[in-house]
Amino acid sequence: MITRPEAEKILKQYGQEHVLDHFDSLDEDEKKSLLEQIETLDFSVLRSLKDRSAVSTRGEFSPLSAMSREEIVKREKEFYDKGVSVIKEGKVAALLLAGGMGTRLGSDDPKGMFDIGITKHVYIFQRIIENLLEVVRDTDTWIMLFVMTSEKNHDATVSFLKEHDYFGYREDRIIFFKQDMAPACDENGRVYMESRSRISTSPNGNAGWYSSLIRAGLDKVIADEGIEWINIFAVDNVLQRICDPCFVGATVISDVSVGAKVVKKAAPDERVGVMCLEDGRPSIVEYYELSKEMMEAKDDRGEPAYNYGVILNYLFREKDLKAILDKDMPPHVVEKKIQHIDKDGNLIKPDAPNGFKFEQLVLDMIHRLSSCLPYEVVREKEFAPIKNSEGVDSPDTARELCRKNGIEL
Ligand code: UTP
Repeated sequence: MITRPEAEKILKQYGQEHVLDHFDSLDEDEKKSLLEQIETLDFSVLRSLKDRSAVSTRGEFSPLSAMSREEIVKREKEFYDKGVSVIKEGKVAALLLAGGMGTRLGSDDPKGMFDIGITKHVYIFQRIIENLLEVVRDTDTWIMLFVMTSEKNHDATVSFLKEHDYFGYREDRIIFFKQDMAPACDENGRVYMESRSRISTSPNGNAGWYSSLIRAGLDKVIADEGIEWINIFAVDNVLQRICDPCFVGATVISDVSVGAKVVKKAAPDERVGVMCLEDGRPSIVEYYELSKEMMEAKDDRGEPAYNYGVILNYLFREKDLKAILDKDMPPHVVEKKIQHIDKDGNLIKPDAPNGFKFEQLVLDMIHRLSSCLPYEVVREKEFAPIKNSEGVDSPDTARELCRKNGIEL
């Protein structure tokens, strides 16, 4: 652990000397924990607040066609058989991204603990595990399930799943690990303190999973188990299908670095990221970056050329990720509400955004890879996200989609 003078030196370098303002009044444990936090946090992300426009400068976009349902259905048996054999060889793992804060949903519990049931309990975690269990039964293989939490929700997540007997999953096939955190700051780049002994932090974004996995020492598990493909997926899609053999088979047969599940957009201006090429490499264009020309562009079948939205479900070839691990991924600056203490130590819970968090995004990860297969899935069957407490992408819309799929609530 670093000493106080060493901490002062680090803080000075980033103009954050105020972090130690209350240091002398802390007890020994608090001092230790603050020094450890200063040692491990990456303050360099704060610099991106100044060059925000540089981070958002994008290359030239062009369309990337997806493997359509039509083609998938035609080659279903070939894909399915390949997927089953790769899964049976133990080469595929699942990785649940559950490190997010779920602020829009507004519950203090981890999002996966949210109960969408009506006549019985149906927790989000349960829905996801039930879907994975279908593949386990189908392939007769216990797929390794990594669960990424953050320091904010780790204990609650682990104890909830344990209490519920992992919803039938085998305990020894689940490995939890914590995601790295990034400091949060005010509009002047000054980090907030969440208490006298703790800097305000937030999870470092949905692309933080691979470096966090490696930092947690889990590359050893990957090597020992012979895992070659990792299917990462968001916690908040209650129809999420993971490691389904057809998707696995299509990605492996296509010999790409990453397979990406996509859905046909509901409307040209729908608020989803769209799979594309950027300077000839796979990437994702955000809905607000789509120009009118891009929205109107057509492919050779006469369909909209930027027509497939991503649903945060990707199958990555692990060795290709290892190769890009050292390539810096720019932190994206996101305006958020950040709890903090004021100068007298009173806790402030803002009701409007009051500062910035720094997140690495999966799109930058994909852009560093050389090939990607966008793989079309049927929206009504696989995409029921819960982001907001009401309205669009809320528990009510997800319940409706569950009902349509015959899932009892
Ligand atoms: P979102 O981008 O919807 O963020 O996450 P969120 O934190 O869950 O929700 P809001 O924005 O605060 O309302 C999409 C997926 O990525 C995971 C989330 O847990 C969710 O599964 N995620 C996001 C992480 O695992 N870590 C992160 O740092 C951010």
